Amino acid sequence: MSENVATLYNSPEGQLGPSLFGDHLHWGYWDAETADADFAAASDRLAQIMIGKTVIGPDQRFIDIGCGIGQPAIMLAKAKGCRVDGITISSYQQQTATAKAKAAGLEDRLHFILGDALDIPREDQTYDGGWFFESIFHMGHAAALREASRVLKPGATLVIADLQSRPTITTEFREFVNKHIHSTFVAMEDYPRLMADAGFELIGIDDITDNVMPYLVPKLKETLTKYDMVIKDTIKEDSDKMLDNWIYMFEYMRDNLGYMLATARKI
Ligand SMILES: C[S@@+](CC[C@H](N)C(=O)[O-])C[C@H]1O[C@@H](n2cnc3c(N)ncnc32)[C@H](O)[C@@H]1O
Repeated sequence: MSENVATLYNSPEGQLGPSLFGDHLHWGYWDAETADADFAAASDRLAQIMIGKTVIGPDQRFIDIGCGIGQPAIMLAKAKGCRVDGITISSYQQQTATAKAKAAGLEDRLHFILGDALDIPREDQTYDGGWFFESIFHMGHAAALREASRVLKPGATLVIADLQSRPTITTEFREFVNKHIHSTFVAMEDYPRLMADAGFELIGIDDITDNVMPYLVPKLKETLTKYDMVIKDTIKEDSDKMLDNWIYMFEYMRDNLGYMLATARKI
């Protein structure tokens, strides 16, 4: 599974994502007042919401598990003054994130590790806080939470942005996302048990499906039109087919998934 995820994010298609979404590799948050915001601005807002939920002090150590190209980690380090280790399975992302931290003058606070989130190369109880920001569905929830629990100190806050399966989810959809984006989704109702089994106390879950899903496809289409030249430069062959696949996938995900933010405390 991890090798497939690395191949996905190292591919030209995987590298294109952050260029289109403001260096983020997650979806966005919209509401009535910000319905006009483009994908990048809404992704930035979702990162701000995650930062708002995070409890971490200046100089404390934070782990960003599945860190993309480091944009959320950089925003967090700037906002809270903490030190952040990000881990990603993609060498492209690890190198890009490291370069971005250096360009921001934050290389003393941010460190990006190329590695597997199921085997984080750190001692037990290293970190004062952490998050999975749209990444845990690639890893397998139970195993990823157990490993997060191992590296977090008792009392540390863990925040999770996750796509949740809806009751209407089809077997075809599960097979499709497993094959194409190497992902497995769980229901919001599964979270209390998953968290308890991994040694976390679940503090709360916000269901923000209505702030994410209805906007997804129109905002994606707007972005693809805006970045047409960038896309054609990056994807040399069959870029139209790739874009059709993206739209199809986003529609399929909109119809089968919700979006939630969970907060928990390591016991
Ligand atoms: C959808 S991206 C989200 C990136 C970032 N959190 C963000 O919000 O911009 C998923 C991330 O999870 C990482 N990932 C998936 N499986 C992983 C694993 N087993 N170990 C480490 N990272 C993993 C990918 O490399 C990628 O960085």
